[in-house]
Amino acid sequence: MRQAGRYLPEYRAIRARHGLLDICARPELAAEVTLQPIERLGVDAAIIFADILLPLVPMGVDLEFAAGEGPVIHNPVRTAADVERLVVRPAEEALRQVLEAIALVRRALDGRGVPLIGFAGAPFTVASYLVEGGSSRHYRRTKELMYGDPAAWAALMEKLAAMTAGYLAAQVRAGAQAVQLFDSWAGALSPRDYREHVLPWVRRIVAALAPLGVPVILFGTGTAGILPLLAEAGADVVGVDWRIGLDDAWERVGPEHAVQGNLDPLVLFAPAEEIERQVRAVLAEAAGRPGHVFNLGHGILPETPVDSVRRVVELVHELTVRHT
Ligand code: CP3
Repeated sequence: MRQAGRYLPEYRAIRARHGLLDICARPELAAEVTLQPIERLGVDAAIIFADILLPLVPMGVDLEFAAGEGPVIHNPVRTAADVERLVVRPAEEALRQVLEAIALVRRALDGRGVPLIGFAGAPFTVASYLVEGGSSRHYRRTKELMYGDPAAWAALMEKLAAMTAGYLAAQVRAGAQAVQLFDSWAGALSPRDYREHVLPWVRRIVAALAPLGVPVILFGTGTAGILPLLAEAGADVVGVDWRIGLDDAWERVGPEHAVQGNLDPLVLFAPAEEIERQVRAVLAEAAGRPGHVFNLGHGILPETPVDSVRRVVELVHELTVRHT
């Protein structure tokens, strides 16, 4: 969860000279940044450096990461005509640099036994940025489109799902050994709306990836009320945040799925003994079941002490048996 990022001085050094989209557009730089946390932390997997909003650029979206503001979309999608203008393109050509970065990272990681995770945003979460024009608190315009013009909403989900499925499949072909779908803001939806307006397209993406034979992780935050629906999407692993106990989450998701999570990233600001207590608590909730992927429940904050992150990785390694 933001494994590479501003909490790492070596990332900040590169970021001082290059914009986020610039890093994504240069395979050697993206590969270098992807490898930084592997060197620093000793984590068990790498996640390719990119952003969930990146595929919007070749679709015709004017995206900018403004300093200190997060993502800004200068031509947000608000109407059926706006949806019509979005172009679904083959990832091999439209997102070639990410695929090249994946190939470079694989070359560096092969032989070290560290797998590489590819990722994309899920249609609802990407649509929320696309419709709002940036980050949002209430998703007012997004829900306005969903309720007010369900046909345009469905057409939007359709295009995002097609682009995403093609992009993730291309990442696997380029060398990604697992893929994660980030539906970070799915928890903003009622179970009814998630089932009707989102789930069919997430299912479709997951189904499209099945023949490729790699694990698929579906992650969201604030999803306690919709976990059985996330499980229905068919992913192998469901990622959860800390707002629900890992044991409760697993019960809702069902034993046939693996579960990823769920330390609160703010615990990384606690004293060492408290960090240890909380890591042990998450592992106790997982109770040694195979299929627990230890992770944070969401992204690492920029001010996070690197030593605390490293300590968590060490602790998890000390306290668990790896199932391979
Ligand atoms: O985890 C990794 O190391 C892989 C890289 C990665 C990034 N974004 C790079 C990035 C991943 C997996 C993402 C996913 C992403 N991007 C999500 C889903 C995960 C989540 O956190 O919920 C979302 C919602 C986005 C959209 C996005 N990108 C926002 C809202 C922001 C601004 C947030 C901020 O902290 O400023 C970004 C920028 C971004 N993408 C950063 C990184 C490392 C941080 C800023 C930077 O370097 O400028």
